[in-house]
Amino acid sequence: MKKVYLETYGCQMNVSDSERVATALGRDGFEITTDAENADVVLINTCSVREKAEQKLYTQVGRIRHADGPKPVVGVLGCVAQLEGETLLNKIPGVDFVVGTRAVGRVSNILGRTIAGEDGIVDLGERDDDYDWTVADTHRHSPYVAFLPIIEGCNKFCTYCIVPFSRGRERSLPADQLIQEVLDLKSRGVKEVHLIGQNVNSYRPETETGLEGFAGKSAFSRLLRAVAATGIERIKFTTSFPRDFHEDIVEAIETHPNLCNWVHLPVQSGSNRILKLMKRGHTIDRYLKQIDRIRSSSRDIAITTDIIVGFPGETEEDFKDTVELVRYCGFDSAYIFKYSPRPGTPAFEMEDTVSFAEKTLRFLELENVQKACQQRRLERYNDKVLEVLAEGTSARTEGGITGHSTCHKVVNFVGDPKQLGSIANVKITQVKANSMFGEVV
Ligand code: 5AD
Ligand code: SF4
Repeated sequence: MKKVYLETYGCQMNVSDSERVATALGRDGFEITTDAENADVVLINTCSVREKAEQKLYTQVGRIRHADGPKPVVGVLGCVAQLEGETLLNKIPGVDFVVGTRAVGRVSNILGRTIAGEDGIVDLGERDDDYDWTVADTHRHSPYVAFLPIIEGCNKFCTYCIVPFSRGRERSLPADQLIQEVLDLKSRGVKEVHLIGQNVNSYRPETETGLEGFAGKSAFSRLLRAVAATGIERIKFTTSFPRDFHEDIVEAIETHPNLCNWVHLPVQSGSNRILKLMKRGHTIDRYLKQIDRIRSSSRDIAITTDIIVGFPGETEEDFKDTVELVRYCGFDSAYIFKYSPRPGTPAFEMEDTVSFAEKTLRFLELENVQKACQQRRLERYNDKVLEVLAEGTSARTEGGITGHSTCHKVVNFVGDPKQLGSIANVKITQVKANSMFGEVV
């Protein structure tokens, strides 16, 4: 049995693709190993969203090539594979085959052919019509939490972003298929599903089958209600696109307790001028109205965001607007990124006016502001009882259990491994930067 080591970089979509690749490989007689050194095959599922992520591929292949012992077969999958295709074979010595983002269903077959002696296979094709979207329980990142893609690709073409090129056009999965999948996951003991997509609120299936009778102005909010009706314990969804984030999504959260109180709504910049250059299709005014609506909800909904600093043309004034926005919004957390020019995107043609040193300064300043706001904001959880899904044991504390709250915070507490897979009511006693600690009540 050939041992396959599968390394995954990037977003949840990549994690989800890898879970399905592992499922297919397991079914076709390969063994998935966590031991990279002794693997016969190394598959790298790549990310191209920033240069740093892309760099990981080159470092990893270099490491494999220079290691002692027999050289494994190396396959490159995912976004870098899709964008670079055949050139990767020449660019990185040691790469045996290349499989794009929508061709991952054929990895098993391509690997078999490579082992049989076929050289340099490159597949950047579309998904097969009968592509199997299911993940075997053993290959899910958690026995209790499942990622469920509802839409793939992106049609938005924000000027800095490579995703529309690496993952192609938006394609929504049929609602009835998704609902059936949630019911299956529930019957297999999964407690939480994450509906995932680059822009979940752009969800637009070809037919309404499965959504009949569910209220909501958008197909996505009807899907949320339909998934809630399956009775699965918890539902989270990410990522939301501000332009298409309608109030009916908040209304669905308010109506269905199993829709979790967390919204990830990337703002990217606090300056209207920069948002326009980014072609985001939303203004600060509209974004703040959405924040106010979420804040005024009867549920305490945690809001998280993504921000890019140092976009081409970003002035001190624009950056100050971003700092001010961060102060106003009180995000539960924010992922801050330095702008990274991506070849092939419209912004790549713009002059990268902000120096790397200046990007770093802005990054650090914004990070400090966010950290302070975040600490203040998270204090509201102190003494509150949160529902935490016990997902794993912690190696650091004896009897330590770790999991996520409905508001998607990492919460650690002392408990019993028997609790794994169930929801614990945890009273928060300590709020740290990236996690909380509490006691079971
Ligand atoms: N440079 C820096 N950050 C980027 N992101 C996307 N493209 C780039 C880029 N070229 C960030 C955005 C997005 C997150 C997933 O990655 O903030 O929301
Ligand atoms: Fe990229 Fe914009 Fe699409 Fe998000 S919405 S994946 S940032 S193009």
